[in-house]
Amino acid sequence: MSHWLIAGASRGIGLELARQIAQRGERVTASVRSEAGRAALMDALAPAGGRGRILVFDTRDEAQIYGAAAQVEEPVDVLIANAGAYGPQRQSTLDTDFEGVLDLVNVNTLGPLRIVQAFLPLLRGGERPRIILMSSVLGSMALEGTFNVGYRVSKAGLNKIAQCLAEDLKPEGIAVVSMHPGWVRTDMGGPNATIGVEESAAGVIRIADGLTLAGTKRYLDYRGAEIDW
Ligand SMILES: NC(=O)c1ccc[n+]([C@@H]2O[C@H](COP(=O)([O-])OP(=O)(O)OC[C@H]3O[C@@H](n4cnc5c(N)ncnc54)[C@H](OP(=O)(O)O)[C@@H]3O)[C@@H](O)[C@H]2O)c1
Repeated sequence: MSHWLIAGASRGIGLELARQIAQRGERVTASVRSEAGRAALMDALAPAGGRGRILVFDTRDEAQIYGAAAQVEEPVDVLIANAGAYGPQRQSTLDTDFEGVLDLVNVNTLGPLRIVQAFLPLLRGGERPRIILMSSVLGSMALEGTFNVGYRVSKAGLNKIAQCLAEDLKPEGIAVVSMHPGWVRTDMGGPNATIGVEESAAGVIRIADGLTLAGTKRYLDYRGAEIDW
């Protein structure tokens, strides 16, 4: 039975990840940053009974993240840095809300790195430790298209962090992958997205289950298909 750490589990894909893992009877520690988020997550963790734990932090706040990590005693086997945002209205190359995009990079690119660093001591004690960084296919350098440049930049940066972390953590036996969860019907993905949270989360969990050091440093979608960095 693994211990999963899911950052950003108040709604959307993260909430469904917490729900499915709790339903499997595994241990889940998951984070929110509001009371509304806590209530939703408590429902999702109900099947886990006493094995579910809720942490509170904003991924932009290093002190909050370290404070949360200090509350966790048992080793973490799987860390999923899922929290993310879509950013400001104005984020094209020709019309940019610079403060808004800077904040987006703080959340989407640096946030996951803060989380990994804070929880690394717990991962080091984990069984077959794995890190999944929730990216997007929009972060791929190979993908054409120019809409939502700020979001693309933030996820492209996260992909680079995934590659570097994978390299740096390989000697310690910790696997790292960058994940595209699909185009998912959530607040972020919108109602026209092609898959529901159930299918996306089930795919992410399947990949986490099967991930070994041999599969580190990959950019995968929720079905396991490899994406061109
Ligand atoms: N949906 C898609 O089609 C899609 C496609 C590709 C990639 N993704 C990625 O998948 C991940 C989850 O997306 P989603 O669709 O589930 O999004 P969502 O429904 O908008 O949920 C976003 C989650 O991230 C949390 N979050 C946002 N900013 C945060 C911050 N600064 N600190 C802590 N938590 C924060 C939110 O918490 P609050 O409730 O407190 O705001 C919420 O739990 C994201 O990284 C996203 O970029 C999604």
